[in-house]
Amino acid sequence: MIKVGIIGVGTVGTSVVQILKENASVISARAGVDIVVKSGVVKNLSKKRDLDIVLTDNVDDVLNDPEIDIVVELMGGVDEAFVVVKKALANKKAVVTANKALLAYHRYELQDMAKDIPFEYEASVAGGIPIINALRDGLSANHIESIMGIMNGTCNYMMTKMTNEGVAYDVILKEAQELGYAEADPTFDVGGFDAAHKLLILASIAYGIDAKPEDILIEGIQNISQFDIMFAKEFGYAIKLLGIAKKDGNEVELRVHACLVPQTQMIAKIDGVMNGISVVGDKVGETLYYGAGAGGNATASAVVANIIDIARSGKSRPMLGFDKPLEGKLTLKSTDNIKSKYYLRINVSDKAGVLARITKIFEDNNISIATMLQRPCSENSANLLIATHTSIEKDIQAMIQQIAALDFVNFTPVMIRIV
Ligand code: HSE
Repeated sequence: MIKVGIIGVGTVGTSVVQILKENASVISARAGVDIVVKSGVVKNLSKKRDLDIVLTDNVDDVLNDPEIDIVVELMGGVDEAFVVVKKALANKKAVVTANKALLAYHRYELQDMAKDIPFEYEASVAGGIPIINALRDGLSANHIESIMGIMNGTCNYMMTKMTNEGVAYDVILKEAQELGYAEADPTFDVGGFDAAHKLLILASIAYGIDAKPEDILIEGIQNISQFDIMFAKEFGYAIKLLGIAKKDGNEVELRVHACLVPQTQMIAKIDGVMNGISVVGDKVGETLYYGAGAGGNATASAVVANIIDIARSGKSRPMLGFDKPLEGKLTLKSTDNIKSKYYLRINVSDKAGVLARITKIFEDNNISIATMLQRPCSENSANLLIATHTSIEKDIQAMIQQIAALDFVNFTPVMIRIV
């Protein structure tokens, strides 16, 4: 029998306990051994819970228990979780975690510490979708050309409701929190950080690249308004928060931001809390992974799959997918050099000569306009909605600064990259 201890028995931890119980016979048949949760750690022991496992508020009760084979870390956060996981490894316990923030900062140190102790983390990216298994094992014959996808269910849920039902940003964020999709601090979702943590994990498996969140371009959905959604609809786009990793020669581009995605693309059709990730390999071509990216049962499904894997073999596999360093190391591409088409919303005082001055600044920065709309905003102001041809990020950023400084421009232009 394999015994599991869970650190952090919240929504996902409770689902792990329930799945291991409700699906015990199929799980035992698949693993070749019975798996039970022996104990769990919670912060507040007096809170009423419908669980028949031993509960404690002391992590050491689990970490030092000689009967526990696998420690499941579901407490979240970075520093405390790092201490707990290190201690579990020091005590030779296999580890399963869903903690993307921990891995975004410490995955290489954890890989060095784990060595031949099994360490699995399928639930850290895209909840129930087995994307880590797919990338690490199923696609291991390929050079990965790109990874692009919806990696945050909260943002996708919000953008879908804002687009389809016109629901206000604050109202829909509250709803996503109530449904249990959002992180404890929802800034991680709407600011793009949660998606960035996941992208960095995937980029390590695909490219062996050791970047931290601070090293890459991360933007959220906070500035998107109904004007942008209206433009998107009129020109056949959906607005999605995407994580993008792209190989370009010896460089890898890593970025998270809102994108205008043509409605004809599969990613544009992924709505609600669902996640969807496209991976292009040089031999396999494009593969697409779709499923629930958040929620107790979906996330616990991936956690339990890792527990079964460990119970089956008891062996580790290279945690980040590389058994030895990759020849010809890839480096991170500078954000300045990103090439894209761009959409800009410029709020201006509606008076003579404004458009001419704005378009002159586009020309000065060598940026070519593809499409333009003007929509009145109030009696004296209007929104200029402009899409460009392919341009270079640093030129766009310089131009935005110049436009923002004009006296008839009411606030810094909003920019969304077009896929
Ligand atoms: N807050 C995350 C999301 C949960 O909305 O996708 C899953 O990582």
